[in-house]
Amino acid sequence: MLKKLPLSDRLQLVASYLSAGTIFADIGSDHAYLPCYVCSRDKTAKAIAGELNEGPFMRAQETVQYYGLTEKIDVRLGNGLQVINNEDKVKEVVIAGMGGALIKTILQDGQEKLASVHRIITQPNVDARSVRQWLLENRFTIISETIIEDHGHIYEIIVADKGSEMNPYDETVLEQQLLFGPLLLKNRTPVFQQKWQAEYEKRSLIIEQMKSAKQQNEEKLTQFEKELAWMKEVLQYNDAFNK
Ligand SMILES: C[S@@+](CC[C@H](N)C(=O)[O-])C[C@H]1O[C@@H](n2cnc3c(N)ncnc32)[C@H](O)[C@@H]1O
Repeated sequence: MLKKLPLSDRLQLVASYLSAGTIFADIGSDHAYLPCYVCSRDKTAKAIAGELNEGPFMRAQETVQYYGLTEKIDVRLGNGLQVINNEDKVKEVVIAGMGGALIKTILQDGQEKLASVHRIITQPNVDARSVRQWLLENRFTIISETIIEDHGHIYEIIVADKGSEMNPYDETVLEQQLLFGPLLLKNRTPVFQQKWQAEYEKRSLIIEQMKSAKQQNEEKLTQFEKELAWMKEVLQYNDAFNK
């Protein structure tokens, strides 16, 4: 009997945002657990598992072979979205488990590969703001944001659709919404509060260290202090950024 697929709560949640019968690319697929999980449950789904590095690429190939899914999942070695071709007709893209800056670079460098893509599902480990900024500038509208704790780590999952009529932002508090997440701000769960409490403490310490350094970066210090004040407001459940 085949071993059960070891998919984390985090990746199960990511998978839940894929449409039935989808054709999707999982970029940075490592073991290819996510595409195997989806394609073994949804008989009509197809996937491309993209990997930059040889080791994870080989692990992904092994998993796909082990679960007998080679007809449905194509494992490809390559950088970011470059593994996708027009003929693949990819509808949805998943980029999970990386920093926000890297996710943004992957999306930016692979823009021309997104012609047929109507949904992007990301799970940035840090710096979700960079991802939101890219989505906003490239007309992918955030339709869902979730924050969860899985094995002691907190993760944000951002789902964005092309050309949605929804606009989750308000110009007057755009910077704050990009930092905290426009939809996460509307529903401040205990996990959201926990994340920003920890960020507040971390940021206070950094500011203290910056102030006592011989050379000061005034611009960065001002920005950090501004963001610290926003975090304080959010933690006090001030509704000012929730338009
Ligand atoms: C931490 S793992 C995350 C794996 C899986 N997506 C998850 O969420 O558990 C990040 C993976 O992305 C791959 N990776 C990093 N940069 C990449 C890029 N530019 N294109 C494709 N894969 C990349 C790494 O080799 C690694 O396997």
